[in-house]
Amino acid sequence: MNGIKLRGTGRAVPTGVVTNDDLARRMDTSDEWITSRTGIKRRYRCAAETHTDLCVRAAKAALERAGVSPADIGACIVATVTPDTVVPSAACMLQRELGLPQDIPCFDLNAACTGFVYALHTMECLLNASPRRFGLVVGAEALSRIVDWTDRSTCILFGDGAGAAVVECREDWPSIGAVLGSRGDDELLRLPGLGMGEANFLSMEGTKVFKFAVEAVPACIDAVLDKAGMTAEDVDFFVFHQANARIIDLAVRKYRIPPEKYYKNIENYGNTAAASVPLVLSELEEQGRIGPGSRMLVVAFGGGLTWGGAMIEFA
Ligand code: UT7
Repeated sequence: MNGIKLRGTGRAVPTGVVTNDDLARRMDTSDEWITSRTGIKRRYRCAAETHTDLCVRAAKAALERAGVSPADIGACIVATVTPDTVVPSAACMLQRELGLPQDIPCFDLNAACTGFVYALHTMECLLNASPRRFGLVVGAEALSRIVDWTDRSTCILFGDGAGAAVVECREDWPSIGAVLGSRGDDELLRLPGLGMGEANFLSMEGTKVFKFAVEAVPACIDAVLDKAGMTAEDVDFFVFHQANARIIDLAVRKYRIPPEKYYKNIENYGNTAAASVPLVLSELEEQGRIGPGSRMLVVAFGGGLTWGGAMIEFA
């Protein structure tokens, strides 16, 4: 299979910000508890913005950075669990707003927090069968709409935002070697569908999800390294889904990853589910910490349950 590489990334956040102190004024929690248990200090919350606005802004920034015209995009995937409308999909609305070609597939993908990694793999497959070389992959969430703002065990964790990547597929590039998995479980992490007669809020068994994550992350890293025929030392940068700083710290310790080879931005965003990985990629690209030649191992996990990893590079 021909492989994809990143051409450019972008991101967008809404104007609303909720700090730990804001939450502590509303419920029985504290900045100290949230910071020490999760690493989160603040999160963004959509005010006047829609999910579509975030997708459009992130995608435009990625196209600009990539120097790619919307007319050259061969497929568009939005990884999300919180689109403005289930139908039309967020990807179809993005197609309209950006003026992407009409003879290309545009669809949303739900793999919860693993969505962006699933979408990268799906895009690689699609571009292998497309006459166009470029693809647009977005991870976007408006999670503030589906958290119960009276439940201190979940509302402190999640935030809104969007990240996007323009990718290119070429014959002489290796596949990203994605490793994806899932295990159906409707108790640990659950967001009921429309018309199910249940409150439309996200619920989570936090401690059990934490245990799942600390096993899934290294299992994923090992599987990606194995598939790529590499060791952890061969990796230039580890890009972790930002669900909890403690989950990242455990992986960092296990693989003895030096500080210059990984990144945490959870402090400023909270857990933004499918947007988490591309938000990290976009900040790192802007800071010049990753770029052409960087071999990056991305790893994510989340509801479903789902997990996934891949070895990605910039063109
Ligand atoms: O991206 C997808 C997946 N999501 C995750 O990866 C989340 C994984 N899980 C976690 O990050 C952690 O489990 C949490 C941060 C959600 C919770 O941390 P924990 O160390 O597992 O805490 P806990 O749920 O066991 O709760 C410990 C105590 C409880 O009180 P008691 O029963 O010991 O008296 C909770 O009621 O902390 C209490 N608690 C809080 N206290 C202050 C729960 N939430 C809060 C809060 N503020 N916000």
